[in-house]
Amino acid sequence: MNEFDEVIVNPTNRKTLVDLANPQRRNLIISSAIAALMGATKSEASEKNKQLFSFESVSYSLANDDIQVPAGYKWSVVAAWGDSIDGRSKPISPDVSDSSLDQEYQFGMHHDGCAFFPEKVGGRDSTRGLWVTNHEYTDDGLLHSGGMEPWTAEKVKKSQAAHGVTVSLIEKSPNGHWTVINDPRARRITAYSPCEVSGPAAGSPYLKTAFDVTGKLVLGTLNNCANGVTPWGTYLTCEENFNGYFVKSGKPNAAEARVGVDAKGFGYRWHEHDERFNLDKHPHEINRFGWVVEIDPQDPHSKPIKRTALGRFKHEGAVVTVAKNKKVVVYMGDDQKSEYIYKFVTKKSYSATNPHLNKSLLDEGTLYVARYDADGAGRWIALEHNRNGLTASNGFPDQAYILVNARLAADFVGATPMDRPEWIAVHPKNQDVYVTLTNNSDRGAKLPLNAANPRPSNSMGHIVRWSEVNGDSTTTLFKWEIYTLAGDPHSTQPHLRGNIIGDTFGSPDGLWFDKRGILWTQTDISTSTLGSGAYVKLPNNAMYASDPVTKEFRRFLIGPKGCEITGVDMTPDLKTMFINIQHPGESPSERSDPLKPKAISSWPDKEKFTRPRSATIAIWRSDGREVGL
Ligand code: FEO
Ligand code: CA
Ligand code: CA
Repeated sequence: MNEFDEVIVNPTNRKTLVDLANPQRRNLIISSAIAALMGATKSEASEKNKQLFSFESVSYSLANDDIQVPAGYKWSVVAAWGDSIDGRSKPISPDVSDSSLDQEYQFGMHHDGCAFFPEKVGGRDSTRGLWVTNHEYTDDGLLHSGGMEPWTAEKVKKSQAAHGVTVSLIEKSPNGHWTVINDPRARRITAYSPCEVSGPAAGSPYLKTAFDVTGKLVLGTLNNCANGVTPWGTYLTCEENFNGYFVKSGKPNAAEARVGVDAKGFGYRWHEHDERFNLDKHPHEINRFGWVVEIDPQDPHSKPIKRTALGRFKHEGAVVTVAKNKKVVVYMGDDQKSEYIYKFVTKKSYSATNPHLNKSLLDEGTLYVARYDADGAGRWIALEHNRNGLTASNGFPDQAYILVNARLAADFVGATPMDRPEWIAVHPKNQDVYVTLTNNSDRGAKLPLNAANPRPSNSMGHIVRWSEVNGDSTTTLFKWEIYTLAGDPHSTQPHLRGNIIGDTFGSPDGLWFDKRGILWTQTDISTSTLGSGAYVKLPNNAMYASDPVTKEFRRFLIGPKGCEITGVDMTPDLKTMFINIQHPGESPSERSDPLKPKAISSWPDKEKFTRPRSATIAIWRSDGREVGL
């Protein structure tokens, strides 16, 4: 997702107060401090490296409409859109005449971020666990009989029911396949499930509406993109392109314009039958979306909690790490052209022995935004009221306003505008941080180049990594570099030429480290770009393994036509990998013709169903060894 990420709503790219406060001197101080501190840290390259993976790269044919994996590997579907979440409720009908109520007990559409929560205390079960997956958005051409015509209140409700998150128990069969089994924890969280709001913006005037005068209870979560997992066993789901569900016929105010509100939205047409999404009537409803939402998968009666301390923007994901001093750190990207990278550091420390103490850890702490300076130094700038110029006299009346309008605060303090920050991954051994910058064709033309985003017309994307000073995830200083520029190293066109070692790719999006330190990268080449232009020689969207020391990328999997590969997790024994195949068969418009649902793909059911379906798949080796080795 999605074409709307292409829009630019960041008007800044201008000098800020922080710049004006003698930037040369400030950068010099930071760089010197970092140089001194980094000198004491061990270089990753000096560590002894053993080959992290040994599978054979997957060769490809552009015409293939199926999953392709290396020799010796197998895969099967775990659960697709419309499958029962507990093995008992009614599965999807061939004519998709299922109601919104049916959809509430079926897997939603367009699977994205996901996680496997092993059963048993200690989480070591590799044969059974809760599968939690996001459902980012809907293709209403596929979702309803007859597509969007006529457009009814029931279709709006079904579309809302197909969004959100699924919790479902899955189990491994002796033959390696995984299936959904019945369990009381199975549930759907939809775009109308009650969610609590917590943290500094909860109950603030910006979050109060006619439906909720407390500002603490929101109906639903939506556009659930990537995710995170906390060490205390909860799941974080991230609300990305929330603006597209809302419409406003009048002129957007500055805060609305900064997140891309307009009169049309993305064409979901929810406002026609659910006035919450009409900003002319309910101007604050939009402030209740764009958050990181914490879900306890073990307690089916618990409400999801929108954690406002982590800021409101177009959240891609929320990767969690525990720092040496036991503070919890969450890294987050804001996916749009020329937006920022953030991190949140908790005030209190994680407790491995008293889980109760972790329940509200994400409500107190400091939100920072990243600045990448040209000399390779970086700085985290706090978005806190009365710090860094974020004062009432400069237009930031309180901390709740700063969090609700995190982009405005980040603009003000001079954060670095990036080429669409997608997933972030933290190396399990040295805590280095990696981020995918998926692409930005406007860089250099409409948006100035900067050191961390140096390629004009960057349609292939890149990956940046950094080391926090002394390996301390809570610090405010870091040293960064470009890990890989995507694109064919042999391209004759400089803006398409990459420096990839190994298999060529473009538009990196999903990014995840397994516990051995293999960096898994998934691509999201938009359906309007797949197989054409710079992407003409590349396969369907695919997944690559990379070794952080050698920087080699090797193609591990290719998806069916028109899909995006997104979301990944593994069982503790590393013998099963789960990934999501999102929107197989998607057309460039992102809405299918209901009369020709299989025009592009019929994955995964082929002739056994009437349309393509997003799905979670399991991948394993036929010899039973670890995936990737
Ligand atoms: Fe939902 Fe930025 O991908
Ligand atoms: Ca994407
Ligand atoms: Ca993504």
